Amino acid sequence: MDKFVIAGGTALNGSIPINGSKNSALPALAAALLTEEPVTLHRIPRVRDIRTMQRLLVDIGASVTGEGDTVRLETPRISSPEAPYELVKTMRASSLVLGPLVARCGRARVSLPGGCAIGARPINLHILGLEQLGATIHQAHGYIEAQAPGGLRGANVQFDRITVTGTEDLLMAAVLAKGETVLRNAAREPEVVDLADLLVKMGARIEGAGTSTIRIQGVERLAGAEHTIIADRIEAGTFLVAGAITGGDLSVTGCIPEHVSALVSKLQQAGVRVTQPDDTTLRVSPGGQLRSVDMTTEEYPGFATDLQAQYVALMTQAEGIAIVVETIFENRFMHAQELARMGANIRIDGKQAMVAGPRRLTGAGVIASDLRASASLVLGALVAHGETVIDRVYHIDRGYEKIEAKLAAVGARIRRVE
Ligand code: EPZ
Repeated sequence: MDKFVIAGGTALNGSIPINGSKNSALPALAAALLTEEPVTLHRIPRVRDIRTMQRLLVDIGASVTGEGDTVRLETPRISSPEAPYELVKTMRASSLVLGPLVARCGRARVSLPGGCAIGARPINLHILGLEQLGATIHQAHGYIEAQAPGGLRGANVQFDRITVTGTEDLLMAAVLAKGETVLRNAAREPEVVDLADLLVKMGARIEGAGTSTIRIQGVERLAGAEHTIIADRIEAGTFLVAGAITGGDLSVTGCIPEHVSALVSKLQQAGVRVTQPDDTTLRVSPGGQLRSVDMTTEEYPGFATDLQAQYVALMTQAEGIAIVVETIFENRFMHAQELARMGANIRIDGKQAMVAGPRRLTGAGVIASDLRASASLVLGALVAHGETVIDRVYHIDRGYEKIEAKLAAVGARIRRVE
């Protein structure tokens, strides 16, 4: 298993280019199952979760080819409408094939995901929504089996709570259903909008993506399309925090500033200088001692839960006490114990973390527990005195392409060892 060895204490200066969004690319790949024609996707990040999704699509019957960050998918026939446990247990987003499979061939067999490091994360809302579209669902042997032999029918679906992949799954199911579907209390995340943009290019009729009510008029069939995935807002946010925590002068390029505005606002309140030199670049530079600022995670356009761990790392260096409340997942403070091993003063009470700072962090051996927790350990290590060894970095490889190369290029002393 690979490890990162990081010697902290150098400011990061320069610029880092941002990749396409992992969480946009995953549903876009699944959407290719909705047509027998070729779908070409550009700016696909080369990360482990994407490779897992491609493997799943090949098993289902897609041919997947590609060069660089372009992937071309073609699925003339669905040979096996199934997402097996072996893949779903390594990546929950595998459940994104459920909607497209039922829509395209009237049946799907998808493993239930089981437990997860950050919370229970059930897919009951995906299932309920599909039932409302007319699918019959049975659960047995750890799998759910969905059947809609006569096709899906448009319906009103009111989500009990906001779910990102649930909204995406239902959107992909509804585009081929007969009649109108209205999704209410839908997720407004940029990744949902990006998926809708791709589906519209494929011939779908969708209105309201990016708002909490999405209207879909089902069509008979979808065609192939070509689409470029949006920039990864979580990668951009992670590097902005890297610049801020090290007191560097760092730009992230090729990003969509609006998508990280909740983070930028917190950085500015904390005393970091943030400027926007052009439409797709954000630059952080030091503004003096960091100040503690409370933060609560929310669905988009609120502060992303996927940047909470990185923000906690930043607050260890800020003066005062920051109250950080996690409202999306029930167990997403695993990084706190590891940051505490490096000297952070963090107290967890249920959904709330109290971070007191500034604390001098010192290098230590720590373990990555999930994707974003790992990113926060890298951030802590960048500012710690001495050497930090982060174990199980396969978590970080799920969602960040070549993070060590990108950080090293702006001055970080980081290397990967086997
Ligand atoms: C997506 O996960 C992202 N994954 C996550 O990114 C992100 O943390 C999350 O949205 C929240 O923004 C992808 O896009 C592939 P949810 P998702 O359904 O869709 C509960 C990362 O680090 N819920 O919006 O699985 C659920 O338990 C990751 O890149 C139900 O109760 O999240 C959670 O508490 C990790 N029943 C809340 O809703 C359901 O059927 C929001 O989850 C579905 C969800």
